[in-house]
Amino acid sequence: MSQYQENATVTRIEQLSEKNYRLTFESPMIAAATKPGQFVMIRTSIGKDPLLRRPFSVHQVLNNGLIQIYFKEVGRGTGILGHAKVGEKFSLFGPLGRGFRLSKDKPAIIVGGGLGIAPLLLLLKENCRLKKNCDQDLVILGGRNREEVEPLLTDFKKYGVTVRTSTDDGSLGHHGYVTEILKSIPLVDGCTVYACGPEAMMSRVAGICAEAQIACQVSVESVMACGMGACLGCSRPDNTGSYTHVCLNGPVFDAEKLQWNM
Ligand SMILES: Cc1cc2nc3c(=O)[nH]c(=O)nc-3n(C[C@H](O)[C@H](O)[C@H](O)COP(=O)(O)OP(=O)(O)OC[C@H]3O[C@@H](n4cnc5c(N)ncnc54)[C@H](O)[C@@H]3O)c2cc1C
Ligand code: FES
Repeated sequence: MSQYQENATVTRIEQLSEKNYRLTFESPMIAAATKPGQFVMIRTSIGKDPLLRRPFSVHQVLNNGLIQIYFKEVGRGTGILGHAKVGEKFSLFGPLGRGFRLSKDKPAIIVGGGLGIAPLLLLLKENCRLKKNCDQDLVILGGRNREEVEPLLTDFKKYGVTVRTSTDDGSLGHHGYVTEILKSIPLVDGCTVYACGPEAMMSRVAGICAEAQIACQVSVESVMACGMGACLGCSRPDNTGSYTHVCLNGPVFDAEKLQWNM
């Protein structure tokens, strides 16, 4: 698997809600190599603050060598990216990690919560490309409120899938959690659930799928310093009582291979 370091130019900035942004970068080598669920490490500053690159899932790969990330401003690095200007360059390193494994025969249920929605658009695109017709598949997207979910809906719906939504405050779709929608639908034999979101959400998704004996792949986060197996900072308990490295063995795992606090 090839990885590249590219000085990528920002070509578009979209502020989708108060603190959520989507940035488009011209990054042809990374764009050509990225699979759904993989991530890039971005140097957000040429100085020492912050010193370390920050990890971001690849949100979309577009034509002409463009990639997008979708992120929330939470601290120094994301704050710099949120104030980027068109034409500015950032050093991107990737694609990194293991992404989602897709099947062209099995129904897919894609579940995203909050910023966990980020890697799922590229996943959906590839899923629909493989199947040619993905109208049997389902996407469930949730967030705290309408502002967090609504700006992304058109991008998901254009693939012809059914999209259901939930919000914690009831301002869009189901009043509650994505997991309540997942629990309420029939999980047909052989389908695969793909999920990304807050830890509590994914733990619940993993539990629902285990109970229904349905395959489940989750994309998890951890603190990452290097993103390539050198610092051992991203370890996470697995189901054997040992630890796994999220950057090398993930970020996408079969849910049953991880330890969950249910
Ligand atoms: C594989 C991977 C993919 C990711 N993809 C995305 C994405 O697509 N979109 C997105 O918005 N974020 C994503 N993240 C999280 C993102 O990397 C962090 O939000 C970012 O590193 C924060 O950097 P900062 O300098 O702005 O924050 P800092 O100044 O370092 O920290 C500010 C606050 O954010 C918290 N924080 C820092 N890192 C994380 C983290 N990894 N998860 C949760 N909270 C964190 C800190 O605890 C602190 O409270 C991903 C993380 C991983 C590991
Ligand atoms: S982030 Fe350094 S080993 Fe995983």
